[in-house]
Order: sequence, then C-alpha cells, then structure tokens
Amino acid sequence: MQLPYNKSAILLKLILYTGKDFMYRFDPMAIHDGPKSGEGSGASSRSTDCAAGLSTTADYHRFAPIDLMSEFTICESFSDPASPYGVILEKPSSYGAMVGDFLVRMGLLKDRSALCEVGGGYGSLMHGLLAGHGNRVERVYMIDLSLSLLKRQRDRLSPWKSRITSIRGDIHELLGAVAGIDLFIVNEVMGDLDTLTGVDPSHMPPEAEELVRAYALDIPEEPFNLNIGALRLVEAVCRTGIPALLTEHSCDPVIPDDMAYLARDLDLDAYPREIKLLRHSEYTIRFSHLVRVARAHGRTARTGALLDLIPVRKGRSLETIFRLRACDTQDHEIIYELLDHIREYRWLAIS
Ligand SMILES: C[S@@+](CC[C@H](N)C(=O)[O-])C[C@H]1O[C@@H](n2cnc3c(N)ncnc32)[C@H](O)[C@@H]1O
Repeated sequence: MQLPYNKSAILLKLILYTGKDFMYRFDPMAIHDGPKSGEGSGASSRSTDCAAGLSTTADYHRFAPIDLMSEFTICESFSDPASPYGVILEKPSSYGAMVGDFLVRMGLLKDRSALCEVGGGYGSLMHGLLAGHGNRVERVYMIDLSLSLLKRQRDRLSPWKSRITSIRGDIHELLGAVAGIDLFIVNEVMGDLDTLTGVDPSHMPPEAEELVRAYALDIPEEPFNLNIGALRLVEAVCRTGIPALLTEHSCDPVIPDDMAYLARDLDLDAYPREIKLLRHSEYTIRFSHLVRVARAHGRTARTGALLDLIPVRKGRSLETIFRLRACDTQDHEIIYELLDHIREYRWLAIS
C-alpha cells in the first residue's frame, strides 16, 4: 500500500505496517474534546455561520452502541441467503455476493484485488463478497469510526483473518491518505456523513458556496440541505484515482425501466431530507451532485437503481403486491415493505 507524503499518511503508514493480527487504531479526532467512551451517544447538530446547521453523526458512531437492525439497511436485510427478505429474490443470495457479482459485471473486481471498505457495519457485505468471490481478493482494508463495529467485522470475517486489516478512523479525514488499493466500497454510509442543513441559497456558508460554485451544483430557491460529507468523500475518491462503488438512500431515485410502477408517489428530483433514526439522523443523498463532482474530476461515473444489482423475481407478482398493497400474507408484507424502501436506493460507480 503506497501513501502520499503527508502527516496523516505517515501515521497511517506506520499503523498499516504494524503486525498483521493487531487491531489497528487511527483516530485523529480522539484527541479532541468530546464524550469519553460510553458517556455521550447522540448525533449532533451545530449551527454554522449564515444560519445553516451542521448535522454530524461522528460522536454517535464513535461512542454509541450501534444497532443496524433498527436502521433497516439493505445489506442487513440480505445478510445471508436464508434471510426472510430473500423471498423477493430470483434465487437465494447474500447482499455481499450480489455486490460481488455486480462488481465483476462492471469490470471493477479484478484478480488479486486489494479492497477497502469504508463503514462495513456488521461485516456482512464483505463476508458475502469473500464467500462468493474470495479467489479474486488478496487484501481487505476495513475502515470504520466505530470500534465496536470494527470488532464485530473482524469476528464475522474470521475465516479470512489473514487478509483483513482493520483501521479505526474518520473517513472525512482519512480517505485522502489511502492509496495502493484497487477499489473502495462505501455501502449505505454517505447518509451518515456531515450534512449542512437549512442552507439559505442567497446566503450560503463558505463551504457550501465553494462546492456549489466549483461543481456548478443545481440548488433550489428555498432553504435546502447539502451533503457536504458525501461531496468531499467523492472529491477525495476522485483525487486518489482509485475506482469506487458507493450506494445510499437517494433523494433523486432512478427507477428500473421494467419496474416503472415503483415510481408511484415518488419525487425523483428532490433535495436531501432528514431520516430520523435511533439517537441520530441520516440524510438522503442527491446523487446527481455526486455525479457532477466525479465528472468534473475527469472520472467516469455510472449510476443506477440499487435494484440493478439485486436480481428480484420476474413475473407480475411483485407488481401486483406493490400496486394493490396486497399484504394478506407475511411474505407479501415483507415484499411490499422492501420494495417501498429499496426503490429509493442508488449506486454510483466511479472509475
Ligand atoms: C448505516 S451503517 C452501514 C453499515 C454497512 N455498510 C451496511 O450497509 O449495513 C454506517 C457505517 O459507517 C460507519 N461510519 C459512519 N460514519 C463514519 C465516518 N465518518 N468514518 C468512518 N466510518 C463511518 C459506521 O460506524 C457504520 O459502520
């Protein structure tokens, strides 16, 4: 793994070249004032100049016990092929295996790859990917802000222990220092990153102003939320020159051609909205903004509906359940709930 020559890089280099089985720790923010482990747990929202607020989940992820089941992540819904949500699939599979298949189809998962997953949660995506395509993967770097989740990832990925390096760090600060890998995977994480809230378009805080100008981002006439964390992340990914797959709950969803019925009552061109979760909030992501950033950096940006990588059952039954909200069995309920949720999710591949 090569690293550019800067302060974080030197620190990261030292950590990465330490003994293999050690739980690596890189947490530049830990020296800042803040709740000690277990004391505070909530996400915070600070006000900035120009009356905008800043929503950040950093303290929540650093200090709170995290329950991903309460967040209904798509990854955990298909955490293994026997999951109850599997009723929607053409054939049983885990989310990680489906992501692996998609990456191979997109030409993004090459032989002898070194992968870096940011915000790996319970480790389910990487487990499925290694179970399905482990022969292509030489090394895996798992970066996460949450120490308890890093530990959980290590347990889940123990069959491939010798290939895994865990790094505790905040991706807002770390990504620019990572190099020498072949692919970043950032699954359902961007909504957790910093978001400027209530931005007045005629009086924007400097960071919003800078991003909007630099990338000619479209903005509405009324106060809006801006995914500054996700935009900076895409900027950093682009500067590394490394390919990436990013997915998240979007506010500008795209609907697969053969499932047009899913567009019912959806705004396909909205701005980020708050999703209140247990002790923190996430924000949906405006993918068209991310695409602009990637293309401005001369990168190829391909994007689509997350359903592109989840092969769901063919035939009319899903459509009928969705149209009629026909929930007379538990399976129907699961299918309706999942379709209603998943239809707003998107992927973005940067290469
Ligand atoms: C919503 S969970 C998604 C987990 C998993 N990718 C999935 O799809 O189930 C967000 C993950 O990102 C991590 N995370 C959140 N903010 C982060 C940050 N600033 N830097 C690094 N990791 C972060 C969390 O600790 C958690 O593992």
